[in-house]
Formats: sequence, C-alpha cells, structure tokens
Amino acid sequence: MDPSGKVALVTGGAGGLGRAFAKALLTAGAKVVISDVDPAVGQKVVEEFESEFGKNKIIFVKADVTKSSELEEVFKAAKSTFNRLDIVINNAGIMRDCVWEKQVDINVKGVVYGLLLAYKYMGKQNGGAGGVVVNLSSLAGLETTPFLPIYCATKHGVTALTRAYGDSVHADVTGVSVVAVCPGPADTPLMNDAQQYLLHDYLAPVLAEAIKVVGTYNKPEFIAEGLMRAIREGESGSLWLVHDGDISQVTMSVQKK
Ligand SMILES: NC(=O)c1ccc[n+]([C@@H]2O[C@H](COP(=O)([O-])OP(=O)(O)OC[C@H]3O[C@@H](n4cnc5c(N)ncnc54)[C@H](O)[C@@H]3O)[C@@H](O)[C@H]2O)c1
Repeated sequence: MDPSGKVALVTGGAGGLGRAFAKALLTAGAKVVISDVDPAVGQKVVEEFESEFGKNKIIFVKADVTKSSELEEVFKAAKSTFNRLDIVINNAGIMRDCVWEKQVDINVKGVVYGLLLAYKYMGKQNGGAGGVVVNLSSLAGLETTPFLPIYCATKHGVTALTRAYGDSVHADVTGVSVVAVCPGPADTPLMNDAQQYLLHDYLAPVLAEAIKVVGTYNKPEFIAEGLMRAIREGESGSLWLVHDGDISQVTMSVQKK
C-alpha cells in the first residue's frame, strides 16, 4: 500500500521505534494517530512533529494495549479525526522477562486486540475498506534468544499470529493484509535497559556477551525503512527481517519428506 494520503495508527508511538515509525509515515504523506501509556512523552512527540510537518497531521490518544476498550478509543479517534483508517502498527511491547505475565499481556494479548480491532474498523466484512496491519515481531521471533526465553516466546507468538492471520483464509474476506517486521537489536530504551529486566541472575553475563557480539545496534530510522518496505511491498503473511543493513523477507516452512 502507498501510505501517501492514508491514515495510520501506531501503538507504543511514544517509544524509540514508534516515534521513528510515526516520522517515516508523516514523511511519506500519511496522517498518524499515536497511542501510548505515557501521555507526557506522547504529547511531546506530537508537538515536535507538528512543528516539523504542520498541524492536523498527527494526534495522540492515551491507551494501554492490554485494555481492549481503551485501545478501541484510539481506533474511534482515528476515524472521527481523519475520517478513515488504513494502516495499524501493533508496535507497543516490552522486553522484561522479570515481569513476564505483564509482558505476555502486552506483547501477545495487545497484538491480538489490535488485530481484532483492525478487522472491526477496516475489515470489508464489517463495511470497511480493508487495509494493512503491521505487527512488531523481532529477530527473537524467528531465532531463539536463550537469555530472554519468555520475550522470545511472545515474539514467536507474534510471528505465528502474523502467518496465521496473514493467510488468504482471512485476507480474502477482510481485505486486511497482515505482515510482520522483525528487527534485530535496535538503539532504543527497550534494548538499552535490557540488563535490568532479566528473569534469572545467571543470564546477566550471557546477555552481556551477546551484546558484545552484536556490536552496534540498528538505528530506529533504519527499522522504519523496513516498516515502510513492509507496508509498500509486503504480501499478507510476509515476515520482514530488518537487521545489519539488510531488509529482506524470510520464509518459514517445514519440509515434508
Ligand atoms: N528495540 C529493539 O531492539 C527491538 C528489536 C526487535 C523488536 N522490537 C519490538 O519493537 C517494539 C517497540 O520497541 P521499542 O524498542 O521502540 O521499545 P521502547 O521501550 O523504546 O518503546 C515502547 C513503547 O511502548 C509503550 N508501552 C509499553 N507498554 C505499553 C502498553 N501496555 N500499552 C501501550 N503502550 C505501551 C512504552 O511507553 C514505550 O513508549 C516492541 O514490540 C519490541 O518488542 C524492538
């Protein structure tokens, strides 16, 4: 989908990647609704982008993605403010195995709520015009990350949701394409604070070693380039790995003998 003239909703839009996604979408000529649990930072992002891109192109609505009714208010605000909704980025997420139940709620339940609301507000079967949903999975949603076992499971869940809902069984009826962006480690608070939120003390040196091996983290602007490729070119169900200068589609399948 060409984002120009479209309306996009970004959850977790006050954070490192969400902010970069909002900027890339505005640059491409879309209008943007950002939502987040942090209204102070969310409002600041809106003010910054209003001075760069002009008024009436971006709004902030506070919502916790683990509360479907709150998240629904963001969808309603998109429709009532900009009269349409075309792109939903299920981006809000945390990487904190030490509060794993909350992490499962945000990373998995929040994405399911976002998907179901996208069908309600954009699905052709409900009188909508169709659209694109982008779920934020991760390199950890494709490979195992033993130092973050539960985060890794949530991101594999997001990958699975994308592949299942991305199937034509759904897309042909709803007109909603579902794709995933799978970033490698990126320079945001989520990654930079990772050491504080491990589940087991013995994992600290393992994470420190993994960080050393990775070296430089991906810039949020580069991950946003991957997001825009996924929106523009992604077929429903596609998974976009964005890491180390490379933006490419990955396939996952089990070969039958
Ligand atoms: N940074 C990375 O290395 C990396 C790599 C791969 C995937 N990801 C994924 O990208 C997404 C964004 O991560 P980020 O690096 O920008 O993190 P971040 O911590 O910089 O930002 C996350 C944002 O989500 C918000 N948030 C947290 N809980 C929320 C909730 N319940 N409801 C609504 N908003 C909530 C936070 O307030 C914050 O603004 C996450 O899903 C993350 O798992 C990040």
